Amino acid sequence: MKHILVINGPNLDLLGTREVNIYGEITLAKINEMVKQKAKELGCQVRIKQSNSEGEIVSFISEARNWTDALIINPAAYTHTSIAIRDAILAVGMPAIEVHLSNIYKRESFRQKSLVAEVCLGQITGFGPEGYILALEAAMNVLKKR
Ligand code: DQA
Repeated sequence: MKHILVINGPNLDLLGTREVNIYGEITLAKINEMVKQKAKELGCQVRIKQSNSEGEIVSFISEARNWTDALIINPAAYTHTSIAIRDAILAVGMPAIEVHLSNIYKRESFRQKSLVAEVCLGQITGFGPEGYILALEAAMNVLKKR
């Protein structure tokens, strides 16, 4: 059984009420339900975590090395600033997929640079909650080939 850790960064706990014109009305709880349902269909186990703190996200990643085969991460605003999260992904050396609800390349210029993109297998950006489902499928496809 493959194990996948899904990590959501700061302010994603506010989905549903936060900038609904950009992120929509769906809550993180609902997205997590969709992810768990998809995991059942794909026959993998998921753990899902959210934190508003950079250090805690770094710890989630380093602790994952004992349990997880792949990471799916939406680092939210830390995408654009966090060398520590980038280094943590490199340090654990497991396949990671970056997800964004919005298309970061269609937004402000400071969002158009991701510090984690280079250490991830790939990035899914702009497909809303569906991005997490696509990431789970991609992660499972990659793991099956290994
Ligand atoms: C985001 C995009 C980031 O720029 C932003 O800071 C977020 C959410 C997204 O999912 O579209 O908090 O990661």
